Amino acid sequence: MKTAIHSVHAREILDSRGNPTVEVDVRLKDGTMGRASVPSGASTGIHEAVELRDNTCRYRGTGVARAVNHVDVDIASAILGIDALNQTLVDKAMLELDGTPNKSKLGANAILGVSLAVARAGANACNMPLFRYLGGTTACRLPVPMFNILNGGVHANWQGTDIQEFMIAPVGAPSFKEALRWGAEIYHYLKKLLHDEGYSVNVGDEGGFVPALKRNADALEFIVKAIEGAGYRPGEDVVLAIDPASSSFYEDGFYHLHTENRKVEAVEMIAMYAAWVDNYPISLLEDGLAEDDWDGWKLLNQKLGHKIEIVGDDIFVTNVERIARGIKENIANAVLIKPNQIGTLTETIAAVRMAYGADWSAMVSHRSGETTDSFIADFAVALDTGHLKTGAPCRGERVEKYNQLLRIEELLGESAIFAGRRNVLPRAS
Ligand code: PGA
Ligand code: ZN
Repeated sequence: MKTAIHSVHAREILDSRGNPTVEVDVRLKDGTMGRASVPSGASTGIHEAVELRDNTCRYRGTGVARAVNHVDVDIASAILGIDALNQTLVDKAMLELDGTPNKSKLGANAILGVSLAVARAGANACNMPLFRYLGGTTACRLPVPMFNILNGGVHANWQGTDIQEFMIAPVGAPSFKEALRWGAEIYHYLKKLLHDEGYSVNVGDEGGFVPALKRNADALEFIVKAIEGAGYRPGEDVVLAIDPASSSFYEDGFYHLHTENRKVEAVEMIAMYAAWVDNYPISLLEDGLAEDDWDGWKLLNQKLGHKIEIVGDDIFVTNVERIARGIKENIANAVLIKPNQIGTLTETIAAVRMAYGADWSAMVSHRSGETTDSFIADFAVALDTGHLKTGAPCRGERVEKYNQLLRIEELLGESAIFAGRRNVLPRAS
């Protein structure tokens, strides 16, 4: 069999924050190679699959030599000879070898690196672009890029807003290429506005600016002005989205808004979001409440789920068991999809399918610590997710995903469709 896995080799590389991460090369019997690397979060959900780190003196404890060794020795011997085109079988072999509920034995970083590299090798062996190999011949819809142009929270060392991510979505653009241009123009206009008002224009982990604003809502004001200043219509051409990543400021039953010097309960957070949705063209709210605040989430979805997209990240962690509970309890209407939260391509696809089965949407996401691997760009087209977030239109590891989507759009030519408003709500009620 030409596509049988012939060798598996991992190495320790650096991510965009200067921390070690796993890169994997998979070679097939016919000589084809597939390479993939693994990102890493900072506002990580406590229910995520385990990212194995060495905890030795190397790299201040963050080394991944153990995960690399698990790939080279244990995983390699378990999957050598398996057909790379049978992704399910490869992933199943790794799950069985690990045997734990959270991949703590081998490490989700080890397993995911192999899983994605096997998919790439398969695509290369078939001489197909990755998006087509994964999504089939009808995969032709480009996602709306959700540009994170203002960073706060842990991605900004708490030097900016409590809200971690303020995003713009150019839903009115006629193509992905134009959406990228609109996003970059607005990004640069925002830089000028912040600079003119005396704020820092240094950037956070995901490439967005980190101004030391006094109120979280000030960020929304600046962004609306930047959209207008760049010549676009807020709410029509470009809508807003926010990811407070609220688990990172939730403690003892309260949400601690450091910038505003106050702590509030879930109901007050919901009232704050509802007021923002009334006053600004916000279409999507991710992780408005904390990762185990199921009751709060239910209220939040009752209040805003008919108006905007309510996306669960830390609460679902791309895990079908948690998503199933969310669907049953009706606590959201969308799932954030991060392959490294769950650890295999097969399980990531299952999470997207479960969301679709419930008439929810799915948004593909990078991590705050990234590599230049653009797997998620192809994945978003393959699974037709309609939107994807991968940071600001700035910084190499962020723009590589957006640039890959440009290439895919070019390759598709006239058959390319831009998702536009399809997934980025306001929802049709
Ligand atoms: P993380 O942040 O990659 O640091 O977890 C991204 C997010 O919260 O969506
Ligand atoms: Zn998030």
